Amino acid sequence: TPVPVAIVGAGPAGLMLAHLLGRAGIETIALDTRTRHEIETTQRAGILEADIARDLVETGVSDRILADGYEHEGIELRFGGQAHRIDFQDLVGESVWLYPQTDVFVDLANARQRDGGTVLFGIKDTEVLDITTGNPRVRYTAPDGTRHEIRARYVVGADGSRSMCRGLVPEDRRVRYGKEYPFAWFGILTEAPMSAPELIYAHSAHGFALISQRTETVQRMYFQCDPEENVDAWPDDRIWETLQARVAGPDGFRLKEGPVFEKSVLKFRSFVQEPMRWGSMVLAGDAAHTVPPTGARGLNLALHDVKVLAEVLVRAFGSEGENALDDYQPQALQRVWRAQNFSYWMTQMLHTAPGGSDYDLRRQLGELDNVVGTRAGRTYLAEQYTGWPTRPTA
Ligand code: DHB
Repeated sequence: TPVPVAIVGAGPAGLMLAHLLGRAGIETIALDTRTRHEIETTQRAGILEADIARDLVETGVSDRILADGYEHEGIELRFGGQAHRIDFQDLVGESVWLYPQTDVFVDLANARQRDGGTVLFGIKDTEVLDITTGNPRVRYTAPDGTRHEIRARYVVGADGSRSMCRGLVPEDRRVRYGKEYPFAWFGILTEAPMSAPELIYAHSAHGFALISQRTETVQRMYFQCDPEENVDAWPDDRIWETLQARVAGPDGFRLKEGPVFEKSVLKFRSFVQEPMRWGSMVLAGDAAHTVPPTGARGLNLALHDVKVLAEVLVRAFGSEGENALDDYQPQALQRVWRAQNFSYWMTQMLHTAPGGSDYDLRRQLGELDNVVGTRAGRTYLAEQYTGWPTRPTA
């Protein structure tokens, strides 16, 4: 008998969908070309919206976030060498949680194992067939080299920013919207104490830097770099000199330094593909849309997609049938475009474009002053950083 839902991609989006459907008594098979170890050790995002954190606890994924996560009631915007706090609690009554995506993944993978869900890691040569029928199939090669086929009622493409599934929507029936940026992020992990109690998003004439955290003894930091930058050209001294210069100011602020034990260049772009559904296949998370990392929207957006998608799929397996799926894209897409705008806005406000002029730099400082200088400006940022409701608003 066919499985109700086959999920291509077992990252946070795919596994959260499997978890939510499992709670509703709907069986899934999730599969991923990466091994569990590969996913667990690839550094990704770090910030969860309060309602996403709540969902992880209340739907029974894990309450580890309450013990190991850090609730942040605001962020710091740093520019002109000065600190400006955006107080989320005061402005919008919300917090966010510092809890790495790798931990979200571990919690979800453990929950699937605990609940007897099927997740296949390290598979190869995934093929998705017959999505314009009610009997789609997924073929794959298992780690032992044997070829298998899964028959399903629906296939969900949750296979990330390099999605294979989104390419199955016929070229003449899909639209791709996107934007490239002339910079990337250099990301590091360092063994050092926290430099500040909250995240610091820093604008400087030398470029952007983000001071984030992982634990009391491990910190995550990023600085704007050329997309073709080579990490081997960056010994620790050079990394620290660069980061210190981007947060320096008359207040004498300094980052607490330590050995750098992980470094990588993270390229990014803005991207949306519509439609998010083709026949019996539905796209969720980065497979359908990606955002630049500034503002920490990507993971949150993906998890909101699957929250809507789980509800719609439960209805589709109930009395409503396939028509229920029509509600998915309209509910997901408003949030997607709001996040596209916020991520773009934060990115352009905080990064220096190569070849930019002094005018550009001063205009950015004017924009940042407009944001921090009034309660309305700070509230605009706080509302978006802490998330939007899952339901569309008029
Ligand atoms: C982290 C990443 C982000 O893109 C962001 O906006 C905030 C934090 C992080 O990895 O900690």
